[in-house]
Amino acid sequence: MGFPGTRMRRLRRNATIRNMVAETRLSVDDFILPLFVCHGNQVRKPISSMPGVCRLSIDKVLKTCGEAADAGVGAVLLFGIPDKKDDEGRIGYAAGGIVQRTIRAIKKHFKDLYVITDVCNCEYTTHGHCGPVINGEVANDPTIEILAHQALSHARAGCDMVAPSDMMDGRIGGIRERLDTAGFELLPILSYAAKYASAFYGPFREAADSTPQFGDRRGYQMDPRNGNEALREVQLDIEENADIVMVKPALSYLDIILRIKDACNLPVAAYNVSGEYSMVKAAAEKGWIDGTAVMMEILTSIKRAGADLIITYHAIEAAKRLAKGR
Ligand code: PBG
Repeated sequence: MGFPGTRMRRLRRNATIRNMVAETRLSVDDFILPLFVCHGNQVRKPISSMPGVCRLSIDKVLKTCGEAADAGVGAVLLFGIPDKKDDEGRIGYAAGGIVQRTIRAIKKHFKDLYVITDVCNCEYTTHGHCGPVINGEVANDPTIEILAHQALSHARAGCDMVAPSDMMDGRIGGIRERLDTAGFELLPILSYAAKYASAFYGPFREAADSTPQFGDRRGYQMDPRNGNEALREVQLDIEENADIVMVKPALSYLDIILRIKDACNLPVAAYNVSGEYSMVKAAAEKGWIDGTAVMMEILTSIKRAGADLIITYHAIEAAKRLAKGR
């Protein structure tokens, strides 16, 4: 019955009981740390719009991997910044490319660190779109072929999982087939299944040097106004044998995470993207919010919405905070 027999405050009286009845438990096992790798040696180039995040050369990536592993973060997601680009992004599958070399270096030094690679062409094309542009449009089917090449080159270099982020139709199936034919049938695919055309990617594009030189990505990424369409995207990717499906960005799309989690029984990942990170850092720097508390609240909300895995630039910081206890 209601008040006064029922009093919700009974189970909120101290930390012990609050912890016992907590419905959501954020864990370091949920986190994946994105890293931007560039050529050179001893390079640690700060990204001005993402305080605390840098472009790193391989030696520095190894150092950060050490810090991640020490903090208990078990997985990283690699983004490559090449020294050359081409019109179709084919440089992205060079065996000696920046991501391929980084995978080998990480696997040599940190055998158990789980290495996921972003598979996309936008970092590798001169125009910053995710595939070859034909008659003013990013051509879907030729892009799949290049992506499959890129995924295979990452697999050959020894990555543990590939994560295609381009939003072309049919790319999960295309990549799966190429991997299987080459003997990588056990390599999982994390699909950026519901990826929205979002202004929250702004800082990332500075980091990855992947801003489209003309137009935008609305012809291939999803319209933020749509939710049912996300379920169709997920359904198609499951039919093409995706192993994990992702929603991106996370914070403005918590409803989508919840709906996908309810609709399918695959693990669901969420990408706490660059703009979400930068907003917290900027407001905290100004003293307007408690940055650590807001970070933990955001990550908890993503988990509560239904995400099993969370890709976040906060990974090391949040892992350390979790280790300290509440
Ligand atoms: C595309 C890609 C993007 C992000 C991850 N992969 C940018 C885009 O689609 O323009 C964004 C990640 C972030 O904002 O943190 N390769």
